[in-house]
Amino acid sequence: MNQITTLDEFIIKRQKDFSYATGELTGLLRDIGVAAKIVNREVNKAGLVNILGNYGGENESGDQVKKLDIFANEKFIDCLSNSGECSGIASEENDDIIHLEGVDGKDGKYVLVMDPLDGSSNIDVNVSVGTIFGIYRRKSDTSGPCKLSDFLQQGSELVAAGYVLYGTSTILVYTTGRGVNGFTLDPSIGEFCLSHRDMKIPDKGIYYSVNQGYYLKFDVELRRYIDYCSDLNLRLRYIGSMVSDIHRILFQGGIFLYPNTRKYPKGKLRLLYECNPIAFIVEQAGGKAINCKLERIMDLDVVELHQRSSVVIGSPEMVDEMMEFIKRYQEPATSELPQA
Ligand code: AHG
Ligand code: MN
Ligand code: MN
Repeated sequence: MNQITTLDEFIIKRQKDFSYATGELTGLLRDIGVAAKIVNREVNKAGLVNILGNYGGENESGDQVKKLDIFANEKFIDCLSNSGECSGIASEENDDIIHLEGVDGKDGKYVLVMDPLDGSSNIDVNVSVGTIFGIYRRKSDTSGPCKLSDFLQQGSELVAAGYVLYGTSTILVYTTGRGVNGFTLDPSIGEFCLSHRDMKIPDKGIYYSVNQGYYLKFDVELRRYIDYCSDLNLRLRYIGSMVSDIHRILFQGGIFLYPNTRKYPKGKLRLLYECNPIAFIVEQAGGKAINCKLERIMDLDVVELHQRSSVVIGSPEMVDEMMEFIKRYQEPATSELPQA
């Protein structure tokens, strides 16, 4: 019989991998695993809203049924308050940072950034959604509450990041900077079990993933690149949940793009809790992540919590090729240069 390794066992075994191997990050990752199970239970009930009550409306008992992204947000906050390892959270669902109380007079040394429910428009139609998280070590003195500056760190400072995909099965994928591992939830025992060890993204693949409906709103060089993908007969896949699209690309290779558009001149996705954690995971799996100015996502300065960024993520050869394509297209053709 194959030996089963649960998420909790794996986290403890790998504790020595962390730069600060004191067990605090271990506790925090376990809190995330618990929250993911609770959110998973609720996501699985989403199809029953007509019986149990519409999200945002009332259920049969007259109780207010929370929208699932608010529910997920609250559950992650509750679970992360448990161990006291996390001193604060920045979430897509909250304008400002949330301070968490220390436990037994001990203040947490870490802060968490998260998108509690990614792809929330998919919920009502039974299509995959996810959770994205990233963990930073605090910069401020741990004898007091955490500060905004603890969150405004570059992606390259992340000590751990992960996502949960609530799909045909539920899978939690995370990295602490020593490779990427995936754990599938076995509902019969209620445990995340190691199912994908040391995940590696293929060097290239056959998928491109972009909201092609915005084609006319992209910059001209992006349009040409998308034409090129189409010319190559790459297959277009776009779920509307970045976690789901990235998950396919991690397994099968490809490229995901959310460029700036006229509506979102800086891009739509959020640097702190969407782009950076996903960039860390993809880079750890051997992939690349840049913005449409061809800068590495994890090197970008984060100046505000809900800052947006354009993003191009995926198989290394495909991101390199996209960069070459954009550079070439941006260079003025010789015929357009002023004649000497
Ligand atoms: P969220 O549900 O957290 O707001 O995120 C949705 C994001 C991302 O996951 C997805 O790729 C993108 O928005 C979809 O946006 P468009 O509908 O504009 O393509
Ligand atoms: Mn999102
Ligand atoms: Mn969200």
